Amino acid sequence: MPSIPDLPPNTTLAGRSVLITGSNVGLGYASALLALQLGASPVYLAVRTVSKGEVARESLLADPVVRKKNPEAVVKVYALDMATWDGVTSFASKFIADRKAAGEGLDVAILNAGIINMSYELAPTGNEAVLQVNHLSTALLALLLLPLLESSTNPQHTARLMIVSSGMHLKASLKACPPDNINYLASLNDKKTFGLGPDRYSLSKLLIIFFLRELCKRVSSDKVIINNVCPGMIKTDLNRNTPWYLTPVVWALQAVSSNPIEKGADEYIDAVTNVGKESHGLWYQYMKLTPYSKFVTGPEGERTQTRIWNETMQVLEKVVPGVGANI
Ligand SMILES: NC(=O)c1ccc[n+]([C@@H]2O[C@H](COP(=O)([O-])OP(=O)(O)OC[C@H]3O[C@@H](n4cnc5c(N)ncnc54)[C@H](OP(=O)(O)O)[C@@H]3O)[C@@H](O)[C@H]2O)c1
Repeated sequence: MPSIPDLPPNTTLAGRSVLITGSNVGLGYASALLALQLGASPVYLAVRTVSKGEVARESLLADPVVRKKNPEAVVKVYALDMATWDGVTSFASKFIADRKAAGEGLDVAILNAGIINMSYELAPTGNEAVLQVNHLSTALLALLLLPLLESSTNPQHTARLMIVSSGMHLKASLKACPPDNINYLASLNDKKTFGLGPDRYSLSKLLIIFFLRELCKRVSSDKVIINNVCPGMIKTDLNRNTPWYLTPVVWALQAVSSNPIEKGADEYIDAVTNVGKESHGLWYQYMKLTPYSKFVTGPEGERTQTRIWNETMQVLEKVVPGVGANI
């Protein structure tokens, strides 16, 4: 398994506010813990189930390193359900209103929440669930948080937006991409296009990478530094929907190729602290700048990227009219 270097010893988040989605368990929780250990405060846990977020909050604040090094740390829990449009917009409205009311900004946003489904499922929005959570809701949340992040940039610190992607995007293909007169994203809601669970997961991560790359053309790295990270294979509950007969395969894969979850958290924090403007629009794996696939950077990818951006914005504009007006 590829090894992940240690975080540089001077890495700090002292005094920085950090929002992490999907932070009740897994990599989100591990990175919230590391952020707190490195001095971050407040840390905002945006979670699907508030009671699970409260359990995570207690556990984070009880950590001996946090108690010793960041005893005044503030951790707040917010409800965020990325399977519904209202779950995303209500969260963003409340979160931003709370920051404004308190005269606070947001230094770092880590959009980590994600799913893999082994079988086709529709989200309450009517969109296929993995497409909804990993791509559409992640893109909407990024756009809604951008103004707050931009307004938090100051001469000492440029705000950060990091989206958790996956190296699995390298395996994604748009083989089923219909002709230009048919809406590609809409076509993905047809059960016939779902394929296998890992196929849809890979595709959802490719779509959010296309979105991020296009977003970075419109948002200057002087305002917000935007990048994406794949933590590599880490043993978490991500595969919770795997059918029982495939579970031994997943376990075997994880046994030989997983890194410890703490190393995944190191990768997240490195990408929002130690790499700077040079990382804008790029992706990191094992703490290294990693090239996108030839498809992503080639002429066909460029064309597809524009298409994905346009179709995504059409969907999001219907949910929040004017959401793309200022970018
Ligand atoms: N583990 C790996 O090997 C690996 C590799 C590459 C990339 N990643 C990416 O890393 C990220 C974190 O995954 P993980 O491995 O830590 O998995 P995990 O333990 O399953 O954590 C996923 C998190 O996302 C949350 N989530 C799922 N659906 C949500 C929704 N509709 N609304 C809000 N939150 C939702 C989960 O909340 P609940 O607990 O309520 O379900 C959980 O907090 C994902 O984006 C994943 O694609 C993981």
